[in-house]
Amino acid sequence: MGISDKANSFKIGIAGLGTVGVGVVKILQENAELVAKRAGRTIEIVSVTAANKDKDRGVDLSSYEWVENLNDMATDERLDCVVELIGGSEGPVLEMVETAIGSGKDVVTANKALMAHHGYRLAGLAEEKDSAIAYEAGVAGGIPVIKTLREGLAANKVESVSGILNGTCNYILSDMRVSGRNFDEVLKEAQEKGYAEADPTFDVDGIDTAHKLTLLAALGFGAKPDFDALETQGIRYITAEDINFADELGYRIKLLGTAKVQGEKIMQAVEPCLVPTNSTLGRTSDVYNAVLVQAQPVWKNVSVGLGAGEGPTASSVVADIIDLARDHKHPIFGVPANDLESVKWGGSDDFVAPYYMRFEVEKSAEAQEGIKEKLEQAGVGVEKTLMKDGFVVAMSKAVSGGDVRAAVKDIAEEAVILRIEE
Ligand code: HSE
Repeated sequence: MGISDKANSFKIGIAGLGTVGVGVVKILQENAELVAKRAGRTIEIVSVTAANKDKDRGVDLSSYEWVENLNDMATDERLDCVVELIGGSEGPVLEMVETAIGSGKDVVTANKALMAHHGYRLAGLAEEKDSAIAYEAGVAGGIPVIKTLREGLAANKVESVSGILNGTCNYILSDMRVSGRNFDEVLKEAQEKGYAEADPTFDVDGIDTAHKLTLLAALGFGAKPDFDALETQGIRYITAEDINFADELGYRIKLLGTAKVQGEKIMQAVEPCLVPTNSTLGRTSDVYNAVLVQAQPVWKNVSVGLGAGEGPTASSVVADIIDLARDHKHPIFGVPANDLESVKWGGSDDFVAPYYMRFEVEKSAEAQEGIKEKLEQAGVGVEKTLMKDGFVVAMSKAVSGGDVRAAVKDIAEEAVILRIEE
C-alpha cells in the first residue's frame, strides 16, 4: 500500500472551524503530499463541523461531509481520530471527547482548559481503550514543548519548568513598557486591534497560563494534573510605574507560570515576576512565548516561539495528527495515568526568592530609610532601595513569599510585591 492509498488513509473529523480549525484544513490541503510522506499515509478529512455552516471561511470545505451533531462525529466508525478545536472545558465538548475516546478513537485537541480540568480522568479512559489524546497545540501554540518534555527530555529529572505562556499578557506588558501607558489603555487598544479577546479574563487574570502550567507540571514531574492546586494572579494590578522601576533595576515584568522542586514540595504559581532584562525570558517580548526547563543531566533547555494564532497552533495540531497516523502514541502525561503521583504542591508564599516591593510614601529620605529599617526588623534583608515619584521601591534578599507579605502588611496598607526570578 502506498502513501496515497485511500483505503490506508488516516481518517479524521474536525470539530471547530475557527482560526485554528481553518489553519489545520489549509495545511492538510496545501501540504498534503509532504504531510502524507511524514505520516506514512494520506491524512483524509472525512467530516467537519462548526457552529455556522454558511459562513465563508476562505477555504474550500465542499469535499468534506458536514456533520451537525458533535456526537455523530464522535461515534462515526469511519474515523480514526477526532480533532477538537472548539474549546471550553465542560458540556458538549467534554462529552464529545469522552465519547470519541470511549469508541476507540484518538483525539487531537488544542484545548488546555479541558486537559487541565479533566486530563487525568481522560488519560485513564484513553489508556483503557488504547486511544491517544494529543494536545501539543494547547500549550505555547507553535512551540513543541510537550514533545520536548515528554520525549526529548525523557531521560531527565526535571527541576523546574518556567515560562511566558500567554501572548496577550506579554503583548500588553511589552506595550506598557515601550509606550509608558497603563494597563487599561493598552488592553483597550489590543481589543480594538483584535489582539486581545473581547472577554480578556482568561488571559489577563492568568487562567490561561494556569491551564498550561498545570499540564507542563504534570509532564515535568510525573504528577497528577491538578488545576485547583495552582495559585493564580494576573497582570491587572501592574502599573506603568512598576514597569519603569523594574527597568531601572535591570528587570522586565513578565507573567510567569513556574513550577519547581523546592525540598519536599513542588512549588507552583502563576504570577507577574521580575526577570533579568538580558535573560531569555526578559528578552521574550510582544506576543512571543518562552519555556525554560531546568533538568538533570541536560541542565537548561529553552524554547521560544509564537504561542497563538493560526499558523503556530495549526502547526502543532497537524504534528500531532502525523504522530497518530504513524501510530506514535505516548502516555498522555509522560507516564501511565496510574503511575502519576499525588505530589505535595507549594504556592506563592513558599517560593524562596528575592522580592520587589513598591510602597507609596510621603517624599522624604526618612520614608526610604524607615521602610528599609522596618523590613529588616521584620527579618526581610534589603538588597537595595530607591525613591522616585512618591514611591519607595525595595529589593529584598532571598526570603519566602509568605514572610515578605507578612512583613509588608505591617508596614503599609497597600504595596505591590513581585517575586524576582533570577
Ligand atoms: N489567548 C492565548 C494567548 C492563546 O494570548 O496566548 C491561546 O492559549
